[in-house]
Amino acid sequence: MTGEIAVVLGASGGIGGALVEVLRQGLRFDHVAALSRGKPRDWVDDDRATWLAADILDEVSLASAAQRIGALGAPTFIIVATGMLHGDGVTPEKSLRALDPRALTTLFQVNAIGPALAARYLLPLTPRDRVSVFAALSARVGSIEDNALGGWYGYRASKAALNMLIRTAAIEHRRDHPLGVCVAIHPGTAATALSAPFLSNRSRDQVFSEQTAAGHVIRVLDGLGPSDSGRFYAWDGSTIPW
Ligand SMILES: NC(=O)c1ccc[n+]([C@@H]2O[C@H](COP(=O)([O-])OP(=O)(O)OC[C@H]3O[C@@H](n4cnc5c(N)ncnc54)[C@H](OP(=O)(O)O)[C@@H]3O)[C@@H](O)[C@H]2O)c1
Repeated sequence: MTGEIAVVLGASGGIGGALVEVLRQGLRFDHVAALSRGKPRDWVDDDRATWLAADILDEVSLASAAQRIGALGAPTFIIVATGMLHGDGVTPEKSLRALDPRALTTLFQVNAIGPALAARYLLPLTPRDRVSVFAALSARVGSIEDNALGGWYGYRASKAALNMLIRTAAIEHRRDHPLGVCVAIHPGTAATALSAPFLSNRSRDQVFSEQTAAGHVIRVLDGLGPSDSGRFYAWDGSTIPW
């Protein structure tokens, strides 16, 4: 297969699923590789999109997905839309007393180590002779400088770790891919399973639909060039301090 290839990891998620749909319906990419642990509901492969199984914490599955993507072509747009805020044994902590090493480990695995492994296996697939974008969905609360409220220790710290991993990967990536862009991006608050338990105090106009959040992310990434690599962006295109 030739043509422009986009890759979305976390295709079963709220924002990830919407990213796949927006990219699949747009004209810019000839093919979208949609990666997730389980097949998204109602998924059907067609000539515009292929689903591939991938667990970001399982290197064998990432290597196998990378091989399948490489056979499609060199991807120029890769978005890691996986992540976790709450789940089995994981609840955002309001105080130090609530810290649980197992929950912290899980958050670091899913939010920092997994996306770093995705970069390890997928960044080398990007072309050297054209601009490409690799982006990981981070969160503004992962900004150390922006942290005025406290709380959410594990989520904040795992996203701060993700940010450092992305910044470090960007420095290495530009050495052999000078046209490559590698960034972290905050998608804004979007109505998904991840945010659902925490939206009660927010007015509707502060919360984006999954489709709107996906559209914002794509618009910002579309506007980036090689000199923008290694930064942390917000959904509106502004930069966020690390
Ligand atoms: N929603 C918001 O308001 C908001 C705000 C700021 C930042 N973000 C960030 O945006 C990203 C997407 O969030 P979302 O709201 O779309 O969340 P979501 O709907 O809960 O989706 C999370 C995705 O992560 C995947 N995932 C978790 N662990 C995985 C693993 N080990 N291997 C592969 N996939 C795994 C899930 O896959 P399964 O279906 O297999 O579980 C799911 O596809 C996250 O990084 C989040 O931190 C979201």
